[in-house]
Amino acid sequence: MRKCRVGLVGAGGVAQRHARVLAGFDDVELVGVTDVAPEAASALAGQHGGRACADVAELLATDLDAVYVCVPPFAHGPAEEAVIEAGVPMFVEKPVAVDLSTAERIADLVARRGLRTAVGHHWRYLSVLDQARDLLADRPVRMVSGAWLDKVPPVAWWSRRDRSGGPVVEQAAHVLDLIRVLAGEVTEVTAYGNGTPPPVDGADIDSVTTAALRFADGAVGTLSAACVLGWKHRAGLEILADGLALAITEDGLSIRDADGERHVPADPEAARVAVDRAFVDAVRGIGDDVRVPYAEALATQRLALAVADSARTGATVRLATATATAPAALASGVTVDA
Ligand SMILES: NC(=O)c1ccc[n+]([C@@H]2O[C@H](COP(=O)([O-])OP(=O)(O)OC[C@H]3O[C@@H](n4cnc5c(N)ncnc54)[C@H](O)[C@@H]3O)[C@@H](O)[C@H]2O)c1
Repeated sequence: MRKCRVGLVGAGGVAQRHARVLAGFDDVELVGVTDVAPEAASALAGQHGGRACADVAELLATDLDAVYVCVPPFAHGPAEEAVIEAGVPMFVEKPVAVDLSTAERIADLVARRGLRTAVGHHWRYLSVLDQARDLLADRPVRMVSGAWLDKVPPVAWWSRRDRSGGPVVEQAAHVLDLIRVLAGEVTEVTAYGNGTPPPVDGADIDSVTTAALRFADGAVGTLSAACVLGWKHRAGLEILADGLALAITEDGLSIRDADGERHVPADPEAARVAVDRAFVDAVRGIGDDVRVPYAEALATQRLALAVADSARTGATVRLATATATAPAALASGVTVDA
């Protein structure tokens, strides 16, 4: 059986991580990489094999089995369209876009083509997730508090709203995605941003955002994002059910219930490897453990944008979900109170 021939679009921080992980798989061959910065593509190809390609078309001409799209939020769209047109299975880094219309357009094209996809929400592969789910299986979630409290990451596009979507869309999306898994769908969001960007050239994002969330199953919660620190302070969520408190981060699960308190460690690197392994296995037809295909990431994108939109406009945003009693005719799945 030939190796899984993978190409990369984007050669920045996260592409380097995927390339390193994929290069460690015996059954994967890195065939090519393209980046709008050719020197970045050459450097990555030089490190892990394959060749630097001038553009996505040249990359797609190298007989690929899979493509990783690892571009910043604002740059999504054209690469995915070309990959879908070529009918090549596609892994897309989160967030899948900076807006909703691009993500919906790509989701529609993926569905029409019946294409195999995966999105980089690797928290879904944390070893403690099943345990958290089991603990919550027989008791409804009452309250959720999610947070991503961090610094401004060292990439120029991050602190521009039209480039990154802001901290909630770009970063806290990991937490929102896990919130959806463990507490179900959010039906209503009211969020506040502080209107003060972090002290970085050209920044126009809120440096802190807090949202109140109402869930379809009756729970309530909050999501907070901050980039005012010089370090990554905390990223994760706490969940309260009757007689049970859970706290989940990439490093593990803390449990407190009538039996006392315990901590189950998790290995974040293992989850980052698992998300790639699951995609490659699915592409090769030897596994079926892709936990976030594109359509599932679209639901997380909707929620993240609902928080960002509410913080920007000051209005409550209602989301239509499968379980919520919202008007069925909402084309985008989102309405904003006037
Ligand atoms: N899942 C995760 O844990 C994780 C971790 C880090 C980053 N990310 C996500 O990955 C994305 C990229 O982040 P990064 O840290 O790699 O950013 P980065 O700025 O380090 O790298 C992005 C690269 O994409 C290139 N690029 C921009 N537009 C392009 C285009 N149209 N075609 C080809 N290349 C293009 C840039 O030149 C750059 O080399 C972000 O959305 C980020 O949220 C995810």
